[in-house]
Amino acid sequence: MTKANIILTGFMGTGKSTVGKLLAKALGYRFVDTDELIQVRTGRTIAEIFNEKGEAAFREMEAETARELGRKSGLVISTGGRLMLDPDNAAALGETGRIFCLKATPEEIVARISGDAGAERPLLKGGDPIERIVGLMREREAGYARFRGIDTSGQTPEAVAKRLLEAYQT
Ligand code: S3P
Repeated sequence: MTKANIILTGFMGTGKSTVGKLLAKALGYRFVDTDELIQVRTGRTIAEIFNEKGEAAFREMEAETARELGRKSGLVISTGGRLMLDPDNAAALGETGRIFCLKATPEEIVARISGDAGAERPLLKGGDPIERIVGLMREREAGYARFRGIDTSGQTPEAVAKRLLEAYQT
């Protein structure tokens, strides 16, 4: 039996990687984080890629990663916050399994991201973080709404992983 992938999308800081790791462990699946994969392969951080090559080059790396992972199964895939909003990426990965979109309030996202010192988010740099998050969320709202949403506000990663597991198995 092929094991359908679980693809996690949603805004930065909604817990895709933290929850994805727990979920992969519970299912005995391999965990893959698209940002991580890109960083290991390029030997650069996401912030360095944005600075040195620009956002368009980063988005092309994401597309390549989506095409590659779209040929695999038995994975829990945490995707960068915009990756699944690209229709070609969503098609490539969506055919391999189930997609869930994690949600959180801007306030909670700020709190989570500030505790995540190693993962600088170039798109949130400069200005008031809440304002930037609200603006970007508004732009992306319709895109995220295409996927099944899971609210993570006020919940532990373990509780969210449990809900995802139930949703995946039903
Ligand atoms: C981005 C999200 C980031 C990373 C990059 C761009 C976005 O990933 O891919 O900074 O456009 O939402 P996370 O969602 O894992 O933070």
